[in-house]
Amino acid sequence: MTLAGILLDYQANLSPPEGFMRRLRLPHKESVEVGLPPDLLEAVARALITALEQRDVLTANHCRMVGELAGETALVLGLGPAEHHLVVQAGRLHDLGKIGIPDRILHNTNDLDARELAIIRAHVENGEAILGQLNCLSPEFAAITEQVGAHHERWNGRGYPRGLAGEAIPYGGRIIAVADAYSALVMKRSYQEAMSHAEAMAQIAAGAGIHFDPTVVEAFNALDWDDRLNGGG
Ligand SMILES: [Fe+2]
Repeated sequence: MTLAGILLDYQANLSPPEGFMRRLRLPHKESVEVGLPPDLLEAVARALITALEQRDVLTANHCRMVGELAGETALVLGLGPAEHHLVVQAGRLHDLGKIGIPDRILHNTNDLDARELAIIRAHVENGEAILGQLNCLSPEFAAITEQVGAHHERWNGRGYPRGLAGEAIPYGGRIIAVADAYSALVMKRSYQEAMSHAEAMAQIAAGAGIHFDPTVVEAFNALDWDDRLNGGG
C-alpha cells in the first residue's frame, strides 16, 4: 500500500494500520493518541530539512541546532513527551520558509534595505504556507505550523508577523525564539563573526521580558551547558 493509501485507511478507520501499531507504542505515545504516528512527523520533518539543506547547508544546520536546544529547553520547562516532540520538530523546521529567499538577501542580513528586510521577514509566512499544507493530516502538524509562525514574535509585542505579546504567543514559538537567537549569535556567518557562548547568553539574558519570555530564558540558562560545550551536545 502507498503512504497515501495508508493515511486514507488510517483516517477512515480511526485506527492505524498494522504496520504502524507497533511503532505507535514507541517513545512518543502521547502524541499518537490524538493523531498520526510520530514516525510520520519525523519523516516529514526530515524530508523538509533535507530540502532546506539542499538549498542552504548553514540554514539547515542552524535549524537542527535550534531543534535540539528548543527540545532540551522544553524538557527543563516540564513539557510532556508529546509537546516536547512537537517543539523539536517545529524548531527543526522554523526557518523552512528561507528556502525561497534569494542568496543576496539570505547571506547578507546585516545590510538590508526596507524592501529586502520585508523579503527576509516573509520567511515566517512562507514557512507557514509550506507547513500549512500538512495541517489537514493531524493537529500535530497544525501545532508545528503555529509554532513556526510565532518564532519571531517578541514578548513585548514588537515582533512579527502578528505582533503578538506575552502569553498570547504560542508557547513553542517562545521556546524556539530563544534557541533561535542563541544559535544565530554563536554561528559564524558570512556577514558576522561567531559570538562566544558567554556573550550570547548575556545578550539573551538582557532580552528576557523584552524580546523573550523570562521563564524560557531561565530554563535555557538551566540547560546542561557544560556537557554541550565540552563536546556532549
Ligand atoms: Fe527565522
